[in-house]
Amino acid sequence: MRSRRWLDLHRNDRIRTVEIRKINREAIDITTLYFEDESVREGKPGQYIMVWVLGDDEVPMSISGIDKDGLSSITVRNVGITSETLDAMQPGDRVGIRGPYGNSYELNGQNPLIVAGGSGAASLLPLVEAFLEKNVKPTFILGGRSADQLLFEDELLELLGEKLVVSTDDGSLGFNGYASGYAALLMDENEFDHVYTCGPELMMAKVFQETERRGIPIQASLERHVKCAVGLCGNCLIGPYRVCKDGPVFNTEMLVEVRKEFGISRMDASGKLIRVNH
Ligand SMILES: Cc1cc2nc3c(=O)[nH]c(=O)nc-3n(C[C@H](O)[C@H](O)[C@H](O)COP(=O)(O)OP(=O)(O)OC[C@H]3O[C@@H](n4cnc5c(N)ncnc54)[C@H](O)[C@@H]3O)c2cc1C
Ligand code: FES
Repeated sequence: MRSRRWLDLHRNDRIRTVEIRKINREAIDITTLYFEDESVREGKPGQYIMVWVLGDDEVPMSISGIDKDGLSSITVRNVGITSETLDAMQPGDRVGIRGPYGNSYELNGQNPLIVAGGSGAASLLPLVEAFLEKNVKPTFILGGRSADQLLFEDELLELLGEKLVVSTDDGSLGFNGYASGYAALLMDENEFDHVYTCGPELMMAKVFQETERRGIPIQASLERHVKCAVGLCGNCLIGPYRVCKDGPVFNTEMLVEVRKEFGISRMDASGKLIRVNH
């Protein structure tokens, strides 16, 4: 007889059609799409789903909301063809989904620091909620290009109060500069015992360097070109790891192993090696 786990795995791999129940425009180019799906509802912080847009492509998106009013969500930044279609979706529109896929954040430490850049906050909001359930209130740096690009500022403020701090590249709100620079300052002033980060790879690579210098363990959610999501095509390789299956969350030891590529080079959609530029 097939085990429950085997059946669950295969249930998650099937493409399901879901209806967009509601949308929330977070910023001029960022939208949260809410839908109902039994498997995604059981997803863990840091996991992602593959979202198929009829006529376009299938793209990976972090689960940004788990079981809010029975609905789950993804939060999309409009950066290209498929994300533009997703960003323009309205309640009643339908997409195909499969997953959740990948590993998840491990909840470590009693005084964690979380560093989010841009749409990276999408995968970190469920992590905050999971920490709060364990009565741990993390310090959260919410970074963005400008004040109108800060994702989930209201939600995070309600959850974290003064533990939420903001940085903007143009200085329009909070710390004037990159989230990674602010993280280094806060690490000097506080005894953080674990760091989590998701956002632009150059930001995460800098945060990794700062944690290494201080001997603080870190978990970072990496992006590579994800196609199959089940570890078969090899398109998402970094060092010996497949981001789709071994990641997307990399711990300190894994980051040390991939340091020759992390923040430096990656494969594009055709498998050609290109420089990481953001
Ligand atoms: C594990 C994971 C979680 C992600 N979570 C989110 C999220 O929560 N919100 C969000 O806005 N974005 C997220 N992304 C990035 C998102 O998948 C891409 O921005 C999206 O696929 C762009 O598709 P496009 O057709 O609009 O862009 P395109 O026009 O095809 O290309 C624009 C850029 O998007 C990137 N991209 C395109 N296709 C893929 C792909 N299949 N896999 C990875 N990157 C791709 C490339 O860097 C490319 O240069 C995640 C990526 C990964 C790997
Ligand atoms: S996307 Fe195919 S192996 Fe990772």
